[in-house]
Amino acid sequence: MSHLRGRFDKPADNLVATYTASLAGDRRLYRQDIAGSIAHAKMLAKQGIITADEAKQIIDGLATIQNAIEQGKFIFNDELEDIHMAIEARLIELIGEAGRKLHTARSRNDQVALDVRLYVKEAVADTIGGIRGLQASLLDLAEANIGVAIPGYTHLQAAQPVLLAHHLLAYFEMLQRDIARFNDCFERTDVLPLGSGALAGVAYNIDREFLAKELGFGKISANSLDAVADRDFIIDYQAAAAMTMLHLSRLAEEICLWSSVEFGFITLDDAYATGSSIMPQKKNPDVAELARGRTGRVFGGLTALLTMLKGLPLSYNRDMQEDKVVLFEAVDILLPTLAVFAGMISTLRVNAAAAQAALGRGYILATDLADYLVKKGESFRTAHESVGKLVAYAIEKGKDFSQLDIKEYQKFSPRFSEDVYNISVASSLAARDVPGGTAPGRVKRALAAARAAIAAKGEE
Ligand code: ARG
Repeated sequence: MSHLRGRFDKPADNLVATYTASLAGDRRLYRQDIAGSIAHAKMLAKQGIITADEAKQIIDGLATIQNAIEQGKFIFNDELEDIHMAIEARLIELIGEAGRKLHTARSRNDQVALDVRLYVKEAVADTIGGIRGLQASLLDLAEANIGVAIPGYTHLQAAQPVLLAHHLLAYFEMLQRDIARFNDCFERTDVLPLGSGALAGVAYNIDREFLAKELGFGKISANSLDAVADRDFIIDYQAAAAMTMLHLSRLAEEICLWSSVEFGFITLDDAYATGSSIMPQKKNPDVAELARGRTGRVFGGLTALLTMLKGLPLSYNRDMQEDKVVLFEAVDILLPTLAVFAGMISTLRVNAAAAQAALGRGYILATDLADYLVKKGESFRTAHESVGKLVAYAIEKGKDFSQLDIKEYQKFSPRFSEDVYNISVASSLAARDVPGGTAPGRVKRALAAARAAIAAKGEE
């Protein structure tokens, strides 16, 4: 390709051309690139920089190219460096001289910044849509099993009973924060860089506000050097994606644990589980495991982006071409993970009996016994110690709390009386009637509030 080599005596070495090309990856930006070029051509014509007829030829040519790409008929010439050159070169082939005017008052530096911003804005919308879908699945599962209690854990040791719905709503909250981070990323991405030229602005009477309007940007960049050098918005996306994957990896781990024979709280639908090549009994949670595993690649991408940008002098540097490799991988991991999790969550079965059996183990009502003594006038620390000794005694006798007679209780505190047998999982849950607590009434209201939050966002 003779393009861009006016000042050279010979073509780039093949190795160099291959080493520097990004077309294989950035061709997915074709829609954004064409939209940006159409807006640019309209603006150039409106400002009298090119004629209306030239703009029309350019716009029609770009529409033809978009069609060809979407029908799989476009020939991507590997000799062209990137999607911007591939489209421009084809446009010139199609319409000739008018095509050679498209790049007036523009540089690939503001062009690529524009294309990626358009891409990230769409990716944010898709991501938030995916998160909402998963949240809806979590709420459906919570509602369908509103009466089910499970052991809540700290240190992965049975701690206190909680409603399964309460546990699932914890993930709803994490995902709410993720949405807030993506919305924040959107705000920062919604800034038009076009019109910044290579780095210093352009020497034509352009209309950047018109471009912003055409392309749906909330505002225009304030500094041309920053506009072509800024990739913070990609890091914002990547960081939000890393946090979302982190949350999904925690959910993934619980799905692995809960679907094990040892826990047995859930059974994955056959369509969301895989078998073993040797052990006929196995039903493996591979979807959850792969999500947990892929989380590392998104974290790694964040480190790659931070390192790529660190210490780069202003303004554009070719290092920045690497941003898209990382960003696209994050999108390609995050979106399918959200979608497959929504399906996995909405098809799994909850085994209430297994959860109930687990609640009968591990002296999970010990805190309630201590609270009982406190209500009878004991100090909490003394109650804690008395119940601790009672637990040690019960373990030694191989009994659970309900199997101890009242005399045995009273060895540890004279404040115990017959009403101690009223302590149950239900009383334990009901007692935690504080904002944010697991009491059934609180959880029902939290569920309703979560539904309302999703519905309100849907109307925006
Ligand atoms: N492929 C390049 C990138 O992704 C486009 C911008 C190239 N600009 C340049 N001056 N070489 O960053």
